[in-house]
Amino acid sequence: MRVLETKRELQAWSDAERRAGRRVALVPTMGALHRGHAALVGIARARAERVVVSIFVNPTQFNDRRDFEGYPRTVETDLAACRAAGVDVVFAPNAAEMYPEGAATWVDVHGLSEPLCGANRPGHFRGVTTVVTKLFLAARPDVAVFGEKDWQQLAVIRRMTTDLGFGIEIVGGETVRESDGLALSSRNVRLGPQARKQALCIVESLERAERMVADGEADAERILEAVRATLARAGQARIDYAELRDPASLETVSGRIEGPVLLAIALQFEPDPDGRGSAVRLIDNRVLGRRPRADA
Ligand code: PAJ
Repeated sequence: MRVLETKRELQAWSDAERRAGRRVALVPTMGALHRGHAALVGIARARAERVVVSIFVNPTQFNDRRDFEGYPRTVETDLAACRAAGVDVVFAPNAAEMYPEGAATWVDVHGLSEPLCGANRPGHFRGVTTVVTKLFLAARPDVAVFGEKDWQQLAVIRRMTTDLGFGIEIVGGETVRESDGLALSSRNVRLGPQARKQALCIVESLERAERMVADGEADAERILEAVRATLARAGQARIDYAELRDPASLETVSGRIEGPVLLAIALQFEPDPDGRGSAVRLIDNRVLGRRPRADA
């Protein structure tokens, strides 16, 4: 496995691979790798002969400096995990490589990046789409893999890829969860023990909503009421949002729901009362009323 730090080296490697007839897949990450990231690498390996994982804690997508500074950085274990997963190249640039001095160019996807996390984290998606554009131009992949856990991010990147004509196939990977159902996230380790227990209300609310829809409930407000009541059990958390949206357009769904609908949730947790853990924001989602996959 090679570790490259400059865009030029990565471009040269990728160009040579493609000239040799091999497909290249990219899995962008911010490190602190877990089984969710490993699952994306598995998807990438199934779709291309060569896999690049990028590890870059992108400063421009953090709207809170403390969140950026506190973001876990575990380079050595990340490299070991990549090696074990059969990754060919890890791209680990520094900030100056991705944002040269005087950098003044941004990529902004209007509409899709405005609601949900966009409303709660101003500038977040602009940072994501800008860095992903730079990663696409550096790795020149045939395929790029992103997690469905960040559903809105995936939707925004699909839109950007189409609009800018990157010619890259965007593939979504299912959310990987802990044994108790909590979606794996690099931020989970920063929850205090009490907040960690309360965080289970997220997956409980997703499951409760799914059961309601399966039992024939089609009223958006009644579903959201039940979701909010379940989330309210986490006394240490504030609801950033709990919304029903169209899975593709992210338009609000109200009244009677017809067809699959995205339930998207963001909770802001406080540290435990005894001071353990830190403030952590968790997101999760589920597409309700989706017919079981034929291949499942
Ligand atoms: P990061 O949070 O490190 O996530 C990297 C990729 O892993 C994203 O596509 C994310 O959706 C996916 N992922 C995270 N948790 C997952 C889980 N439990 N199951 C499956 N996939 C999961 O998302 C980012 O980094 C950044 O915004 C990035 C795209 C790298 C741009 O900086």
